[in-house]
Amino acid sequence: MCGIVGYIGNKEALPVLVSGLRRLEYRGYDSAGIAVVSGGRVHVRKAPGKIDALIQSIKQDPAPQSFLGIAHTRWATHGAPNKINSHPHLSCDKKISVVHNGIIENYMKLKNALIKEGHKFVSETDTEVLVHLIEKYYRGDLKAAVIAALRLVEGSFAIGVVSSDEPDKIVAARQDSPLIVAQGKDSYFIASDVPAILEHCRRVIYLKDRQVAVLSQGGVGIYDLNNRKVALKFDKVTMDAQCAQKDGFAHFMLKEIHEQPRVLKRLIAAGLKEITAFEFPKKISNVVVVACGTAYHAGLVGKYIIELLARLPVWVDLSSEFRYRDPIITKDTLVIAVSQSGETADTLAAAREAKKRGAKVISICNVVGSSLTRESNKVFYTLAGPEIGVASTKAYTAQLAVFYMLGLRLAFSRKMISAKAYAGYLKTLGRIPSMQEEILRSKEAIAAVAKRHHNFGSFLFLGRNINFPSALEGALKLKEISYIPAEGYAAGEMKHGPIALIDEYRAVVCIAVDSEIYSKMVSNIQEIKARSGRLIAIASDGNTSIKAYVPEVIRVPKCDEFFSPLLVALPLQMLAYYIAVQRGCNVDQPRNLAKSVTVE
Ligand code: F6R
Repeated sequence: MCGIVGYIGNKEALPVLVSGLRRLEYRGYDSAGIAVVSGGRVHVRKAPGKIDALIQSIKQDPAPQSFLGIAHTRWATHGAPNKINSHPHLSCDKKISVVHNGIIENYMKLKNALIKEGHKFVSETDTEVLVHLIEKYYRGDLKAAVIAALRLVEGSFAIGVVSSDEPDKIVAARQDSPLIVAQGKDSYFIASDVPAILEHCRRVIYLKDRQVAVLSQGGVGIYDLNNRKVALKFDKVTMDAQCAQKDGFAHFMLKEIHEQPRVLKRLIAAGLKEITAFEFPKKISNVVVVACGTAYHAGLVGKYIIELLARLPVWVDLSSEFRYRDPIITKDTLVIAVSQSGETADTLAAAREAKKRGAKVISICNVVGSSLTRESNKVFYTLAGPEIGVASTKAYTAQLAVFYMLGLRLAFSRKMISAKAYAGYLKTLGRIPSMQEEILRSKEAIAAVAKRHHNFGSFLFLGRNINFPSALEGALKLKEISYIPAEGYAAGEMKHGPIALIDEYRAVVCIAVDSEIYSKMVSNIQEIKARSGRLIAIASDGNTSIKAYVPEVIRVPKCDEFFSPLLVALPLQMLAYYIAVQRGCNVDQPRNLAKSVTVE
């Protein structure tokens, strides 16, 4: 949540900052702002709304030419998403400016003390306390003032700071919020995430917690909060700049839906090698998965996979619940933390809690170098490339694929399945990408179903067994991008409550792929039909009988039910996508959401 970017170099700063912000807009789009230093002053321009609104306001009130600046795109936590609360914030003397991602938890106490000392606050944000604190400690050395201020701060932060008294530097720091420092040709950058700097450079430093970076035209220095210099360690980013483009698709989400067969092929080729080489701990008593949102749904599928094949008990917990109770974790518990971004505050905290209790933590993560990957005992990357659409699509099926490969390997290494069965499962997995391609080819049919249903006031998604989590995920996709209330349910639970919702105004999506308990789903379908619910089914190719009781059938290729979540996810994503488009929603940037939830 919130994206920050900073630039110092020999190019005009404003276009670099604005283009960096555009690449970070997925992190929050409540407001945007920039601060550049020029002519002995800090010049701030900001506007509520998207980056386009900022550009308009800069057109009306241009900022002077500058070669250094900081910028911010906001997901509001404290204070309404208006101009006053937008970043960057300014000190009382207007000489220091700060952008911030995170939450300053003790801001009220600090603010009250600063007000008593005469500081004037203008916004409702927690961030503003930082700029006043830095001003308080400023004695001609910006780095020293930032360090002094940060020592008093509790919470999470990634910050960029500039001062008109030191117009040749940016000071940056982080604690529990992501921040990279990047080196280009005669230029340095800070950014919340790699896509912001991809068009300029590839050499990055992943700043660690409680580190401070000082960027100047001449170079970069990293320090700890005791002002001790830290050795520089650059990593090379291999991500393709093209990944952060729409490639002719109307939206990132649609592009990312279409990338899934390619991602899966890549993952099976590269990820499998890594998983095969991995030695599971000798003794595993149980498995605990921690994750949020879509990643949690992937974890639920993981439970079915691991329990069925490896015969180990698996419990799947929402990270936000896990971290605040007293979970039963021992050193023999294998904890799997799942996160696309690797920066989700609750999942990070859950992983830390599990480690504190002696468990080994494996993470399934998409973003290289993210906080979660650095805190895990072992990382399996989903290799999905940057996911820019706020609604997760390709990362979800990639997480599922890792669970399949991990579950199979774990089952094999525990001698629960034979070498022949193991090879057979992998062979079937290898066929899934071409089946996904087939589903993508039927997008017109899915778009037509969406067109006929986009005005429904609410949706129910039903699934059974390994596709129960698919139903949860289908409902989440729809509600987050179309704002239609949607619920996912285990079909067997329907009679225990949700059936009361069914009438002719309710659209009910039934995941009815071929399975051993297909007939149970047919019974549910009959019950919905008897109550005039508007049925949509996702069914396997070759199932001709379903047409007799369901008017709208979306087809997926016939495959073993065990692997079907990897197929079913696609029509569910496309249905949500096309319904949202029909309703005129901004699918890539749904209201109130942000891609990376770095605050709890
Ligand atoms: C939904 C979605 C979210 C994320 C959740 C966890 O489409 O994207 O529910 O899955 O915020 O994010 P990560 O995976 O980054 O931990």
